[in-house]
Amino acid sequence: MKMTIDDKTFEPFIEFNMIEKRLRLMGIQLNLDYEDKVPIFICVLNGAFMFMADLMKEVHIGCETTFVKVASYHGDTKSSGNLIEQLPLLIDIKGRDVIVVEDIVDTGRTLKFLLEKIYQKEPASVKVATLLLKPDALEYQFDEISFVGFEIANDFVVGYGLDYKGLGRNMADIYRLVGQQLPG
Ligand code: IMP
Repeated sequence: MKMTIDDKTFEPFIEFNMIEKRLRLMGIQLNLDYEDKVPIFICVLNGAFMFMADLMKEVHIGCETTFVKVASYHGDTKSSGNLIEQLPLLIDIKGRDVIVVEDIVDTGRTLKFLLEKIYQKEPASVKVATLLLKPDALEYQFDEISFVGFEIANDFVVGYGLDYKGLGRNMADIYRLVGQQLPG
């Protein structure tokens, strides 16, 4: 069923049971790849909180979890977003295997910013698990993106942690904006 948030209409896109199935497979892959390691999962707030929580239940190896928050603040124009670390990395990752957990990689600007900060702390390895990836919007190439839930078109989506104007993060399913107009 369609639903409205503020001035925009959204339609059902990816149901929670599809997400659950995908996360089970992602968990299997992570459990194998990190079998002999104790990785640190870094959840990128706010959007990845739900994905992180469900993914962690599928990870059965020893691991640590931590959280960072990156925000883009806008000057006078909405397109001039600069990134700031609102919550920096608070634990030592030197020599550790790190997995960055993202809700969505769109242009990749946030991820690029974050990876630069992470590499400065000299981890042993860095991989990225993202629930959603918009390949057509990507502005950079990342060798670190090894775990992808769903590749999607350049649609604007909400739900399962993702928001529109701060709303919609609490919905279990993912919805996409009806029509072509992307929120500015
Ligand atoms: P990027 O820096 O362009 O890759 O964008 C990353 C951030 O933009 C994500 O972590 C989201 O917070 C936000 N974002 C990008 N696309 C969407 C979307 O379709 N819905 C909701 N938020 C989005």
